[in-house]
Amino acid sequence: MTDTILLAGATGMLGSRIAHHLLALPKARVRMLVRGSVSKTEVLKPLVDSGAELIEGDLNDAASLDRATRGVDVIVSSVQGGPEVILDGQVALAKAGKANGVRRMLPSDYALDLFKATPGEHAMFDMRAQADAQIAEIGLEQVNILQGAFMDMFLPGHGAIDADAGTISFFGDGELPIEVTSVEDTARMIARVALDRDVKPGKFAFAGERISFRQAGEIVARITDRPIRPMSMGSETDLRAAMANASSEKKVMLAYLLYMTNGQTALTDLQNDRYPDLRFERFADFIARSLPIAAHA
Ligand SMILES: NC(=O)c1ccc[n+]([C@@H]2O[C@H](COP(=O)([O-])OP(=O)(O)OC[C@H]3O[C@@H](n4cnc5c(N)ncnc54)[C@H](OP(=O)(O)O)[C@@H]3O)[C@@H](O)[C@H]2O)c1
Repeated sequence: MTDTILLAGATGMLGSRIAHHLLALPKARVRMLVRGSVSKTEVLKPLVDSGAELIEGDLNDAASLDRATRGVDVIVSSVQGGPEVILDGQVALAKAGKANGVRRMLPSDYALDLFKATPGEHAMFDMRAQADAQIAEIGLEQVNILQGAFMDMFLPGHGAIDADAGTISFFGDGELPIEVTSVEDTARMIARVALDRDVKPGKFAFAGERISFRQAGEIVARITDRPIRPMSMGSETDLRAAMANASSEKKVMLAYLLYMTNGQTALTDLQNDRYPDLRFERFADFIARSLPIAAHA
């Protein structure tokens, strides 16, 4: 049975990989909702050449959402942005989908377990939880994909690891294991789940690996053959104090660190074995594969 999947966010970092993996599956007809497609031919052309249909539109344009959702079975959203995108935009997309008989939606969650966050503590998690609650009110079934952090966060220069200083920094003792997954495996899994009618609505969690900041530093040090010194920036109390005085942008970054320090949003009930042919890349392999690219970038 073929399903028509509408993908919102196909020009994005994660979305372009979801499109690629959807198009590789025999039972998917792929439609992409894209704004300003003319300027994005480099990303879109290979997808269209592989059979994807392109609908020009915008989450803020209701008529385009009606056009885009007609005849669609499943909506996959990988959009990114502020409340006008994640909340208003995704809810408008869900409404259009519901009106046109869409079966279910995978909203743009893709994180640690944002549903376990304390409201008011993490603006990005709050926004997604609110959007998902409103989508539920509309009556559209949803599957919430949770894969933890992307492994990229431990690439030198991406935040935690300062290659020049030779340090990996964190709050707390750096020993807490955190779920991490590669973008590629996340996209591959999203494509499979989107087409799997037997997946139950609700959270769908998986992870490439559980790894602590200290372990990540050791692995990167081994692969780069350069020492990386673990460096605690303080306790959870210090982190919370920093959040209280931070700008809203900085507070979001610290909020991610908060939940990687106290484990509050750790993933449970991992469904890693749902598709036996799908095996996840290990963190060490990801680093070995990515570092030449990261160094080049
Ligand atoms: N767990 C993690 O470590 C982690 C890390 C990174 C991202 N993520 C999550 O992954 C998801 C995707 O992130 P990303 O980094 O792939 O995002 P991205 O590269 O910024 O792409 C965002 C996509 O959303 C589209 N978009 C934004 N506003 C739109 C609108 N009004 N109408 C239609 N399309 C719109 C963009 O289209 P245009 O090309 O037109 O701008 C683009 O295709 C997000 O939920 C993000 O939080 C998770």
